[in-house]
Amino acid sequence: MKVLLLGSGGREHAMARALERAGHDIVWAPGNGAQGAWRRRPIDLKNLDLVVQLAVDEQPELTLIGPEDPLAAGLVDRLQQVGLKTWGPNAHQAQLESSKAWAKEFMARHGLPTAPFQVTTDLEQAKAAIATLQEVVVKADGLAAGKGVVVASNPEQALEAAAQLGPKLVIEKRLCGPEASLILLLRPDGYQAFPLVRDHKRLLTGDRGPNTGGMGAYYPIQETPALQDLLDRLWIALQQEGLNYFGALFLGLILTSDGPQLLEFNCRLGDPESEVLLESLQGDLVQVLYGQPLQLAPGCHIDVVLASAGYPASSSPGQIITGHENLNQVTLIHAGSERLPDGTLVTAGGRVLHLVASGSNLQQAQQLAHAAANQIRFDGRSPLWRSDIGGSLS
Ligand code: GLY
Repeated sequence: MKVLLLGSGGREHAMARALERAGHDIVWAPGNGAQGAWRRRPIDLKNLDLVVQLAVDEQPELTLIGPEDPLAAGLVDRLQQVGLKTWGPNAHQAQLESSKAWAKEFMARHGLPTAPFQVTTDLEQAKAAIATLQEVVVKADGLAAGKGVVVASNPEQALEAAAQLGPKLVIEKRLCGPEASLILLLRPDGYQAFPLVRDHKRLLTGDRGPNTGGMGAYYPIQETPALQDLLDRLWIALQQEGLNYFGALFLGLILTSDGPQLLEFNCRLGDPESEVLLESLQGDLVQVLYGQPLQLAPGCHIDVVLASAGYPASSSPGQIITGHENLNQVTLIHAGSERLPDGTLVTAGGRVLHLVASGSNLQQAQQLAHAAANQIRFDGRSPLWRSDIGGSLS
C-alpha cells in the first residue's frame, strides 16, 4: 500500500521501519537522518496548505500522522475534505489532547477514574483551587510539548507554576503511585491495546532533573486487572461522543491503591513508548491498524534515549555523531538527527537517537543498550542518557 507518513521523530522512524518491514511504498515527510526504503519529502508540517498539496500530489492510500500539532490544527479534517484516508483524529476529537480542560471534563462527564480537579482561567482562581486541593499538579490547558505540567511540592511552587503556565489551567489533586502508559489503536468499530509501558520523563538517572519528552521506556511491566473495567467504560464514553476515531489514543495512567486513574490523553502514539512497542511488533502495522490482532515478540524490551547537551532547555545542533555503526544487537532509531550532503550524521534536536534492545530479561536488554550508549559520541563527547531505564543495574 502507498502510505504517506508525517513527522520527524523517533516515533515516526519506528513507524517507518514497521511499514518497511511489511513492504509498503512509503513517502516520509519530512523524516530525519534515518535511511531506509522510503522517499523523503522535506516539508514544514506547520504549513497545512503545503502538507495537503503534498498529499494531493502523492495520492497515498493512507496518511499516518505522527505528531499532535497537525492533528490539533485540523490536518485530518483538511485531508478528508480532499477525499484522502487518514489515520488520526480530526480537530474536534484531538481536543482530548489539545485541551487538558476539555479532556478532564470528558472524563468527569463519564465518571472515568481521574483525580479531582478545577479548571481556572486567572491567578486568583488558581490560588483558590490550590488552597482547596492542597497537594496539586498544575497543567497548562494547551499543547506544550511535554513542558506544560508541574508536579508541585508545595503551594508556593504550585502558584509559581500557575503564573508561568496560565492563564487557562487544570489544577488537579496529586495522586500517588507508579505511572504507566497504555496505547490503544482505535477504529470506529473497536480497539486493541498494546501492553502497559513505563516511560521515564525526568532527565537524569535516579529520576532527577527537569521533565523531558521522555528519556526512555520499557515493557513488560506488571499488568493490572482493574484496567479492563476502565477501558470498557472509556470505550462506551468515546462512542457516545463520536470520539471513536481511526487512530491512536494514548492513556497516561497512575496506578494507585484505588486502581488505575487517568492522568491524560494523547491522540497519537506515545514517544518513546512507540519505539519500544513497534520494534517488537510482528505482522503488518497497516493490517494491525485495521484490526488484525496485535502480536509482539516475547521477552523484555527497552529504549534508551541519547540526548544532546543542554536538553531539554536547548539542543546542540550540528554535532557529528560517531560510533553508531555496527551496534551489537541494538536497533538505532533516529529522532533529532540529520544527514549532511556528504552523508555525515549530525544532531538536529534535543532527543537525538533511541537505542532499542531486547532480552529474555530486562537486565540483558539493558546491558545491550548501555554498551551501545557507551559507544556513541556527539562531537567526541558522551551524550546525555539515563542508565536506569528498566531499573538500576546493581
Ligand atoms: N510519552 C508520552 C508522550 O508521548 O507524550
